[in-house]
Amino acid sequence: MSSAEKIVVVGDGESAEIAYEYFTHDSPHQVVAFSAEAAYLKKTELFGLPVIPFEEIESRYDPREFRAHVAISSTFLNRLRARLFRETKKKGYQCVSYVSSHAFVWRNVQLGENCFIFENNVLQHQVTVGDNVVLWSGNHLGHRTRIGNHVFASSHVVISGYCEIGDYTFMGVNSSVGDNLRVAQDDVIGAGAVVVKNTEPRRVYVGNPAKALEKDSFDTFKVPEILRS
Ligand SMILES: CC(C)(COP(=O)(O)OP(=O)(O)OC[C@H]1O[C@@H](n2cnc3c(N)ncnc32)[C@H](O)[C@@H]1OP(=O)(O)O)[C@@H](O)C(=O)NCCC(=O)NCCS
Repeated sequence: MSSAEKIVVVGDGESAEIAYEYFTHDSPHQVVAFSAEAAYLKKTELFGLPVIPFEEIESRYDPREFRAHVAISSTFLNRLRARLFRETKKKGYQCVSYVSSHAFVWRNVQLGENCFIFENNVLQHQVTVGDNVVLWSGNHLGHRTRIGNHVFASSHVVISGYCEIGDYTFMGVNSSVGDNLRVAQDDVIGAGAVVVKNTEPRRVYVGNPAKALEKDSFDTFKVPEILRS
């Protein structure tokens, strides 16, 4: 999807403002509106553009003509962004990914829908990135590494070659993962943690070498019961 598209940004908070800024100044695409669920709608306008109820977007911005981008952070261990991504897809939208012109993305990297790749990320030979992934600035994804869906990597995360990062996992700033390792689904890898062994799902890891805390990652990220399945 490299042609210029008109985009409705789903979200009206800080991530949405950043998405507007980056799409406007570093992509061929044009943001035409913002959208939030009616229950959370706090404004009617942002940057001179309408903020409309999510429940109404498909009647105001035809999915055959407009695209979408869901701009939500790692809230509820990425499950809020995942829910809105699924609902946006269900309405018939194709979701646009943003890749910074200052990111290094090798020619055979595969990237899913609705990703947001900030400046100074390095995605090497044969890296695969799923749908709805946020790579904040300055991460390294080594050759043949596979990133699942709905993952959030903060900043300066090093994931070595031949790794797998499970769906929904959050990687804290300056964390790193040795080569050939599997980081499981729903994990939280704490700031500065060094993963040297495969991890178990739904755990919180800290330290060097990284060890699991007692606490559950869903509790750490206060994931509501309804989003836990
Ligand atoms: C791992 C993390 C999620 C745990 O948060 P939390 O559930 O609030 O945990 P607590 O602060 O209660 O800490 C629990 C224990 O782990 C230790 N700990 C927490 N984070 C740690 C880290 N990154 N490295 C080493 N130890 C850590 C605490 O010192 C505490 O130890 P204690 O029980 O001996 O006192 C959090 O500390 C973290 O690293 N978050 C990532 C921050 C980040 O990268 N933000 C980027 C945003 S884009």
